[in-house]
Amino acid sequence: MAHLVVSTGSIVTGVALLGVIVPRFKKVFERHRILERLAQQDEFEQREYVAATPECPRPDRWRMVDPQTCEVEILEFLRSLVTTVKPQLIVETGTFIGHSAIKMAEGLKANGFGRIITIEFDRAAFAKAKERIDASGLAEWIEYRKESSLEAKIEGTIDLFFSDSQLLTREQELRHFLPQISPCGLILVHDASSEIQKVREAMLQMEQEGLISTVLLSTPRGLAIAQKKEGRK
Ligand SMILES: C[S@@+](CC[C@H](N)C(=O)[O-])C[C@H]1O[C@@H](n2cnc3c(N)ncnc32)[C@H](O)[C@@H]1O
Repeated sequence: MAHLVVSTGSIVTGVALLGVIVPRFKKVFERHRILERLAQQDEFEQREYVAATPECPRPDRWRMVDPQTCEVEILEFLRSLVTTVKPQLIVETGTFIGHSAIKMAEGLKANGFGRIITIEFDRAAFAKAKERIDASGLAEWIEYRKESSLEAKIEGTIDLFFSDSQLLTREQELRHFLPQISPCGLILVHDASSEIQKVREAMLQMEQEGLISTVLLSTPRGLAIAQKKEGRK
């Protein structure tokens, strides 16, 4: 009987582990498939094809260049946000091939000051991002780093924090950087749709803990915009 209990426990643990490992491998596979395709053909815009959600029933009204890079509309929004709030220091986790970093750097260039530190741990994605950033004419605004967001050491106060790394590390990295984020700064976390849940739940949990105050934008993959509670005075 005891043997049976241990076996059942092992099965439950195994299934839970698979639930973490399989999506992670799917994402790695997807990233590398996009990089291989990029080596053969130019990028093109297409309609979003993520599943509809109650808050975003028509994802096909949005555009994307690939399923890893933010929706095109979010990229445009990031640029506008940078020219609107004029951050001195932006930190982005998850560079992938550099689209969002380049868009935010366009905003910095229009402002005439500031810089963005963008962090990527995947060797192939980092190499592609570096190539694209160097060719963009915006490299002077961007510091790219090949490391894990959870190990990154950033000097100074962060005015705009954009979290777009691995889904399961978003909460951990937000908690890691939170003390350095300006009380008047902005926190943006991508993939906060009700379909993805993990990120949305983490943001709502941190709100319940009184750490942040958050708004959920209803885009295909979802974008949470938050501010530290201490900044809302
Ligand atoms: C969704 S993509 C980022 C897309 C990009 N922000 C854009 O819209 O152009 C996520 C990227 O985060 C990277 N990543 C995941 N976890 C990371 C971590 N802990 N530290 C650094 N990079 C990470 C992945 O390798 C992947 O390239």
